[in-house]
Amino acid sequence: MRISSMTTAEVDAISELANECGFHLEMTLELERKFAHIWVARVNSDSVKPDAFLLAWQAADEMDIIALGTAANARRLGLARALVGELLQFAVNNAMDRILLEVRNSNAAAIHLYQSLGFHTGRIREAYYSDPTEDGIEMSLIIDALGCNNPMSDSQYVEVRK
Ligand SMILES: CC(C)(COP(=O)(O)OP(=O)(O)OC[C@H]1O[C@@H](n2cnc3c(N)ncnc32)[C@H](O)[C@@H]1OP(=O)(O)O)[C@@H](O)C(=O)NCCC(=O)NCCS
Repeated sequence: MRISSMTTAEVDAISELANECGFHLEMTLELERKFAHIWVARVNSDSVKPDAFLLAWQAADEMDIIALGTAANARRLGLARALVGELLQFAVNNAMDRILLEVRNSNAAAIHLYQSLGFHTGRIREAYYSDPTEDGIEMSLIIDALGCNNPMSDSQYVEVRK
């Protein structure tokens, strides 16, 4: 597996992948945003085409996960978990306070993923999503403690020690 920051050469592939995963994103625009961070993951390091991506926006001391997607043929291989781990490492390295996101109420895969990484569920946002209309669940990971060089090494942790 290989994780790297998205490059301009990967815009088309990630746009296609995002679309397949149900996101309507303008990846060229995202690359230009100073506050946007995009990581891509490959099962095979040498593959031209990335298999998964994560887009997060930085807002003061928070990181918001805007989109996370894995190609249908590369799921349950740990790519999404590794990408969230990369984001968490970035957040820790930059002394950020928390990681936030919203997820569809019915998205059991994503909810399980985030819960397995220590995220907590928060408020329900009624009818937050459209097509189809559905409630959104807020999830967050508070980084109130550091000391974790490799956030992926211990799936049990809930908070990283400062
Ligand atoms: C949600 C999604 C990103 C997971 O990607 P992935 O690369 O397959 O996830 P991982 O292999 O890293 O899975 C890590 C953990 O998440 C949970 N998980 C992932 N897919 C799951 C599923 N279909 N059902 C239940 N739990 C699931 C499991 O706890 C899994 O650990 P395990 O395989 O050891 O049991 C992927 O299903 C996807 O792209 N879905 C469509 C887009 C989306 O819903 N994005 C999230 C909204 S922000």
